[in-house]
Amino acid sequence: MKNWKRYTITAALPYANGPKHIGHLAGAYLPADIYVRYLRANKRDVVFVCGSDEHGTAITFQALQENTTPRAIIDKYHVLIKESFEQLGILFDIYHRTSEPLHHETSQEFFLDFYNKGLFKEVTSEQYYDEAKNVFLADRYIVGTCPNCGHDKAFGDQCEKCGKSLSPSELINPRSTLSGAVPVLRETKHWYLPLNEYEPWLRKWLLRDHAKDWKANVYGQCKSWIEGGLQPRAMTRDGEWGIKVPVEGADGKVLYVWFDAPIGYISATKQWAIDNHKNWELYWKDSDTRLIHFVGKDNIVFHCIIFPVMLHMHGDYIVPDNVPANEFLNLEGDKMSTSRRWSVEMHEYLQDFPGKADELRYVLCSIAPETKDSEFTWKDYQTRVNSELVAILGNLVNRVMVLTEKYFDNQVPQAGECSDLKNFITQQREKVAEAMENFRFREALSEMMNVARHGNQLLSEKEPWKLIKTDKQATAIVLYDCLQIIANIGILCHPFLPFTSQKIFAMLNLDSSNFSWNDIGRQNLLKPGHVLGKASLLYQKIEDEQVERQIAKLKKSEVRSPKSEVNTKAMETKTSDIGHPASDKPEITYEDFTKLDLRVGTILTAEKVEKADKLLKLSVDLGFETRTIVSGIAEFFKPEELIGLQVSVVANLAPRKIRGIESKGMILLAEDESKQLRFITPKELTKNGSIIR
Ligand code: 2FM
Ligand code: ZN
Repeated sequence: MKNWKRYTITAALPYANGPKHIGHLAGAYLPADIYVRYLRANKRDVVFVCGSDEHGTAITFQALQENTTPRAIIDKYHVLIKESFEQLGILFDIYHRTSEPLHHETSQEFFLDFYNKGLFKEVTSEQYYDEAKNVFLADRYIVGTCPNCGHDKAFGDQCEKCGKSLSPSELINPRSTLSGAVPVLRETKHWYLPLNEYEPWLRKWLLRDHAKDWKANVYGQCKSWIEGGLQPRAMTRDGEWGIKVPVEGADGKVLYVWFDAPIGYISATKQWAIDNHKNWELYWKDSDTRLIHFVGKDNIVFHCIIFPVMLHMHGDYIVPDNVPANEFLNLEGDKMSTSRRWSVEMHEYLQDFPGKADELRYVLCSIAPETKDSEFTWKDYQTRVNSELVAILGNLVNRVMVLTEKYFDNQVPQAGECSDLKNFITQQREKVAEAMENFRFREALSEMMNVARHGNQLLSEKEPWKLIKTDKQATAIVLYDCLQIIANIGILCHPFLPFTSQKIFAMLNLDSSNFSWNDIGRQNLLKPGHVLGKASLLYQKIEDEQVERQIAKLKKSEVRSPKSEVNTKAMETKTSDIGHPASDKPEITYEDFTKLDLRVGTILTAEKVEKADKLLKLSVDLGFETRTIVSGIAEFFKPEELIGLQVSVVANLAPRKIRGIESKGMILLAEDESKQLRFITPKELTKNGSIIR
């Protein structure tokens, strides 16, 4: 592995239009902080930046709905989010804001660099315009009657009643939400990043050079975007809230929020450099600097494709060496969502569980969605805290402290270090380090806990409380070893459990600043005769009532029908919300869509597939022929319910053998958030074989 001189670590700049939940924490901020703390323990040169992402149509729209200004919303949440991070021990070097003049200048400089080099494509297209308010309308600002269900307040991008995804031109009687006026189509010019022209570079840099070292979930998503064909993407928007487009003829236009937000990492670094007398350019332009972006799943494309292309286009900048994005964290069997109030917000956790930041860090790291979606439940939180943190780590420290005080007057007993123990600890240090370097934080945490398990084992085997009656020297050796284990844990656990580490050092009466990662496994971390500090409990058990209260609170506050706020993010990304993916799929062209042969068919027969609990074998009349289709729906429908049902079928899917049966085609079903499946059935009886378009 390359010997990096310094590290620039970024964590996704959260939109400051609402609180952030523990899914965000597990997805990006906690792993970033663990990694940074590990690097710092290794005395590496690191800058760790984050801050508020303040622009975008989502925030403007929300301000409009709440009858306030974007600025007022952001000022409130900027502080709330920043303080929550601090209380959870997420320690950024700077928590910047994209409204800062320095950020505006930096973003405009990027835009002008591309503009002056003639790298943008200027495209004029027609968009809806509100003549009463004199503004172009983002899709969300247009309402009308849904062509699908007749709901008269459907938005230009989606009907919230039936869920159908729409474009403004499909709405019946479209109206502007700003003025109520009928919007008109008007031409507008925008500047597009020609992503398609950078496909060869992306193939080489990302698909070839990072095939081995990037996480499979991240690499796979990028591969499918690139292979799906990249399209030019508009880097400007019509609107007032945001960074002005710094060229002539661009009045009333601002930079696309996803153009300026990642540049926010650079402007944050610049501000940090000013405040700390550093040279920001070394952290962004020196090839010996390792740039790592920590983000959630729905930010992957922006950090792996769009922003790297921008850095590459600029020419002077390094590109990320890794983007170890996590998947999503679900909550009690459902997707986490602030707007549906099915979430645990960071600040609420801190209020309800004061002083228990490490407990949350521990649980979230243990279940982090590193390779696939994972699940937080309050019961599991309780179990992990009680039977791991309390029973293993807390118990070890407490027993050893109490016994040392009782038998050795609170001083480290005179004894020599056992070399097996030293080897074991050194080996654990290496295991934790290897996992950390490769962003496998769950594994790293579990190897750290194995050191505590080892200490408990030693206590149970040697039983110093009995041994003391017959052999004080042997007791001294056991407690000496256990104290060394605890001191080593003090260093080892610091990246994951910073508050615990602090308490351990205080109990041991050691100054943590005298120790670094390489001291783990060193002889005599605690010298014989050293006087220990006062023992205190590291953790307390989580009681059943606390867990029940949280579950009840969640159920009480849940909003079943989503507020319009849910989809505000879709206005910016057209992909998904952190924790609630709209889609992972790349955008496709109309030509791509026309490759699908979608037909109406009728299920003629249905039977279970032997020894396959999930599969049904169906024969489906497609008008021009009858097909056998194997579908994974047996857990949801009884075969006899399906006979005669009209369904939608992908008719030109290549045949596949499933359990020895050739399946030709696929039946389409809608899956809602509770995983309930429904067939896509024509509203009226339709001739089999009819084309769906
Ligand atoms: O998804 C989000 O919350 C975005 N505000 C993340 C931006 S990351 C970076 F580009 F700033
Ligand atoms: Zn509808």
